[in-house]
Amino acid sequence: MTRKPLIAANWKMYKTPAQAQEFVKNFLPLVARHERDEVVLCPSFTSLSVVIAAVTGSGVAVGAQNMYSADEGAFTGEISPLMLKAIGTTHVILGHSERRQYFCETDETINRKLHTALRHELTPIVCVGEVLAEREAGKTEEVLLRQTRGVLAGIPPEHAAPIVIAYEPVWAIGTGKTATPQIASDAHKVIRGEVAKLLGAEVADKLRILYGGSVKPDNATALMSESEIDGALVGGASLDPQSFGKIVNY
Ligand code: 13P
Repeated sequence: MTRKPLIAANWKMYKTPAQAQEFVKNFLPLVARHERDEVVLCPSFTSLSVVIAAVTGSGVAVGAQNMYSADEGAFTGEISPLMLKAIGTTHVILGHSERRQYFCETDETINRKLHTALRHELTPIVCVGEVLAEREAGKTEEVLLRQTRGVLAGIPPEHAAPIVIAYEPVWAIGTGKTATPQIASDAHKVIRGEVAKLLGAEVADKLRILYGGSVKPDNATALMSESEIDGALVGGASLDPQSFGKIVNY
């Protein structure tokens, strides 16, 4: 099974629209004619429009870092999938560990967002991953199974094709401690095995599972060489066009 790798930049709460535009200007020449991987930039909401305009015609796609699960309503401060679609956003990160940690997101709320994203044909990048205490207590597999089941609850196999899962061990995020290719690969096998049980072997076989957590230009090749790793979700190293360009061109 060949799965097209997906490499996404998660800029988190960094960059003004002007800085985002400057990034794109410097980044696009580095990935011109790059076809091997799907490349996605995920700026903050306020920079989505300028980034979408700046990447036009380049083959680079643009995703949001979050969205709400309802189409519209009295939800002050939230952003709807309709709004994202209307400006040309094609992807959305759901359930990032920082959303779970600081904004009370749970498998249940992430699951609701996933149903909504699929209904609106946004490509969801759904994040799972254990914290350090869970890994040290030997609970990694248990956590990954619980999160995978929780976020995928009620998704019919025939609607599951666009789903992308990102395995982001929380202890590797922003710490400089990357999971070894073996650790990441083992976790991806757990996730894929559970998806096979929930949604069938065909969906599991086609499912792209990205690794995220201190991906840098110097470890990208080793990670991406693992057959179980279908791409990367990059935080800190995606803020600089040269560095993200090197990762995309691993
Ligand atoms: P870092 O690459 O900065 O560790 O962040 C990973 C991440 O959270 C991407 O979503």
